[in-house]
Amino acid sequence: MTDRYAVMGHPIAHSKSPFIHTRFAEQTGEDLVYEAIDVEPGTFPATVREFGANGGRGFNVTLPFKEEAFALVTERTPRAELAGAVNTVRFEPDGGISGDNTDGSGLVRDLERVLGRGLGGRRALLLGAGGAARGAIAPLLDAGVASLVIANRTEARARNLAAHFARLGAVEAVALDALPARGFDLVVNATSASLRDAVPAVSADILAADACCYDMVYASTPTAFLRWAEAAGARHIADGLGMLVEQAAEAFERWRGVRPDTAPVLAALREGVR
Ligand code: ATR
Repeated sequence: MTDRYAVMGHPIAHSKSPFIHTRFAEQTGEDLVYEAIDVEPGTFPATVREFGANGGRGFNVTLPFKEEAFALVTERTPRAELAGAVNTVRFEPDGGISGDNTDGSGLVRDLERVLGRGLGGRRALLLGAGGAARGAIAPLLDAGVASLVIANRTEARARNLAAHFARLGAVEAVALDALPARGFDLVVNATSASLRDAVPAVSADILAADACCYDMVYASTPTAFLRWAEAAGARHIADGLGMLVEQAAEAFERWRGVRPDTAPVLAALREGVR
């Protein structure tokens, strides 16, 4: 039987993951099928069991099930533990179900692509303190940023995150409306504001001259945050489409042991989203 993979979420109809993984499989000659499964809330564990019993070898998890997947798996990678969420699951030969999180690594890889070099020494600002922000913290610190400030509208959530990750590096929390004009040269928007065409209320003077502004959200036209970044004079600007492809490549490698080339798939998607 051809190995089955899937993305599980709700809603799922517009997911680009089947396109991405199908291109990866063609490119690497791997024999697999990848589908999108719309999971009704409340039925996630049953859907996972059924998929595993019917040829499923692994699956990706998207909103709103990443925390539920974290709780359901029988083993977790260290980076999944740190993120508190699972986006990549593999059914193991011994009957176990392992959970990984490739989102943060996908973010870092894509940032390196956008910048054309590593993140070492960057003064980084992370906007937001929800699940997306949480998953980005350890990978950014691990990539060598010099410092990381977490700014959130609700300051207490930023404080909680900063305290949680303090042992991993220089992490600081501030309220969004108390951000110092500090010359951030890497700003990652992990808020959900872009989904409502809104921008976190920050002033243009927080940016360094050669700043990179990255929105974890992607859209067919520049997001509100990226429009703000351009007006504020950021040198590098990118949305999260590249992160989506990079996290998928990392998942594919975990499942199949071979790393696909992301560049042609990102280019094809970019054509499609325009
Ligand atoms: P996710 O899991 O996608 O990160 P979440 O947990 O709902 O979603 O978190 C959304 C994040 O976006 C939060 O940091 C939220 O700020 P609050 O904690 O103050 O609610 C942030 N956010 C959403 N809309 C925003 C806006 N218009 N301006 C600033 N921050 C916003």
